[in-house]
Amino acid sequence: MLTSGHCSLEARVVDITTLAFDAIVNAANTSLLGGGGVDGAIHRAAGRALLRECETLGGCATGDAKITAGYQLPAKHVIHAVGPVWHGGGRGEAELLGSCYRRSLELAGEAHCKSIAFPAISCGVYRFPADDAVRIALDVVLETLPRVPSIERVLFACFDDAMFARYQTQLAALAGRRQAPPSKPA
Ligand code: AR6
Repeated sequence: MLTSGHCSLEARVVDITTLAFDAIVNAANTSLLGGGGVDGAIHRAAGRALLRECETLGGCATGDAKITAGYQLPAKHVIHAVGPVWHGGGRGEAELLGSCYRRSLELAGEAHCKSIAFPAISCGVYRFPADDAVRIALDVVLETLPRVPSIERVLFACFDDAMFARYQTQLAALAGRRQAPPSKPA
């Protein structure tokens, strides 16, 4: 676990649809009308009313996010973020992925959320290299949190042990860097 101000950041292997958080983030597509992966799981667990609200939103640009209610989910809100498809890195994929995390936190703040859980956006069928995606997620969340003071808890919901290990490694490295004594002047 890592702390930033009064907020904790941690990773866990968990099905994001089971979390009673103020907001869970969906790895959606530009239509916002559902799909496979975590998107399909969220729509199945939330029920048809979620799709009906999504149908009113007019889609969402890649790198942006839109917020809905959680309906039959234990979470109060769903923040639908649209990650980039990985095309090799030359099409602004890193910036677009970072923007998903930034926009999701901003929307969570506007909705006065205290807790938010993210899946590994773009790391499934969109094929973003996972180590890079985890670094971007942590960097952007840490950079954005000071502007979103309502958030007290950020959870990175990992679907498998390999993704959990990536988060653990990078969270531990960040925690170590923060605790390291200042290096002596040469
Ligand atoms: N809880 C947490 N993580 C999950 C869950 C779950 N229930 N289910 C899957 N994951 P993906 P993308 C992980 O493919 O790459 C959809 O069709 C999964 O193991 O869901 O952003 C959308 O409609 C992976 O690490 O999202 C879009 O068309 C991560 O969530 C497209 O897929 C993201 O994998 C978006 O692709």
